[in-house]
Amino acid sequence: MKIAIGADHGGFYLKETIASFLKQLGHEVIDVGTDNDAPVDYPDYARAVSREVLDNGAERGILICGSGVGACVAANKIPGIRAAMCHDSFSARQGIEDDNVNVLCLGARIIGPELAKDVVRIWLASSFSGAERHVRRLAKVNEIEKEYMNNESGVKTHEQ
Ligand code: RB5
Repeated sequence: MKIAIGADHGGFYLKETIASFLKQLGHEVIDVGTDNDAPVDYPDYARAVSREVLDNGAERGILICGSGVGACVAANKIPGIRAAMCHDSFSARQGIEDDNVNVLCLGARIIGPELAKDVVRIWLASSFSGAERHVRRLAKVNEIEKEYMNNESGVKTHEQ
């Protein structure tokens, strides 16, 4: 599988570990940086990973920051991205089977490397169930995205 991976300074060392792990598993890895632990801004890496997923053929993306939260918030602003922070196997599996998550977010200051590898392995081994109820719910998620994108300001008001 072609997988894009990116991290800010808080996630840099875990990114290196996960990128090597992915290569060991035989995946093609697109590493968008960062390349060291000097402070950078997680939205830049959320954007870069998302672009690989949406425009450049990566099947999935992995984003790592200190907590996993900032990267997840930023990635979910990008239409077409369904990002989720998963630090356990249940969320990793169900996030794909039910919610078709295409970007996995990890918090390097929260999760250790071995658990992170387990989560990544399970997430990659899972696939969207395609069950009618999940297709219906994801269609509603897409409707929300479209509804707010159509508003020029991007902010929904009570009058609308
Ligand atoms: C950077 O210090 C930190 O804020 C970032 O890695 C992330 O945890 C944000 O959610």
